[in-house]
Amino acid sequence: MDDTGANPNRLPQEVLPGVLVCPDAAEVARAAARRFVDWAWQAIAQDGHFQVALSGGSTPREMYRLLATQDFRTQIDWPRVHLFWGDERAVPPDHPDSNYGLARRELLLRVPIPPDNVHRMEAELAPIGRAAHNYEAVLRRSLELDGRGFPVFHLVLLGMGADGHTASLFPGARLLRETSRWVSTPTMERLGTRRMTLTLPVIEAAKRILFLVTGSEKAAMLRVVLCGRADRALPAQMAQPRHGERIFLVDEAAARLLPAEAPAGAAPPEKPKKRK
Ligand code: 6PG
Repeated sequence: MDDTGANPNRLPQEVLPGVLVCPDAAEVARAAARRFVDWAWQAIAQDGHFQVALSGGSTPREMYRLLATQDFRTQIDWPRVHLFWGDERAVPPDHPDSNYGLARRELLLRVPIPPDNVHRMEAELAPIGRAAHNYEAVLRRSLELDGRGFPVFHLVLLGMGADGHTASLFPGARLLRETSRWVSTPTMERLGTRRMTLTLPVIEAAKRILFLVTGSEKAAMLRVVLCGRADRALPAQMAQPRHGERIFLVDEAAARLLPAEAPAGAAPPEKPKKRK
């Protein structure tokens, strides 16, 4: 289900390597849903299953909705799809802020995915550290490990905040230097709450990372993440697959400050000093 059949005037345009610009957020969702179907076929043909870490935030909502429509839902072998989360808020699953809750309402309740294939982060449980430990055990039981011993997702879906955060990995956080844990529970000082999140080594071990970024309020940060040298560690810039592919699907509003073409010798993202 690639872009054929789509309205040619609304096809994503590759403006930088791996950066595809769509006319608007609706087309970002459609292009993402099409790719989800494609990658599901590929992974199931190759490995017998498709293991995906879903993103939180509001941007993926439309994609989840589309995947639940007749057009898309019937294209996916749901009994072979396993869903996990990249991060979660420390709230119950039916809470309006729950990332699981969003996916459940927009997708899980509308597609024939077996309940055992849905692996949510139980971030509302206390102590949250033990819940994170339990989630590591779920990942260990479910996923292959890469050469460095980190679990490998077929796809990690990510959003980006206007401050450059992704999942619940925030700029300048010590957690960005994590080298062994798979799941962590950062404290959101500003909100006085906790989160549960996959760590960078796990995100980097993915076969494919797909960023969905929409809205003009993210344009300045997107330019820094894709073309700039940040003055401090930016998680959205650091989330690079070690051996896989990274794709940004963005709308014109978010892409408005991107250079027409890759700046010559554009410095690759600043990599933090080697973690011992
Ligand atoms: C979360 C997310 C977070 C999100 C960004 C973008 O739990 O909030 O995982 O990283 O992707 O904050 O959020 P929006 O899509 O709402 O702009």
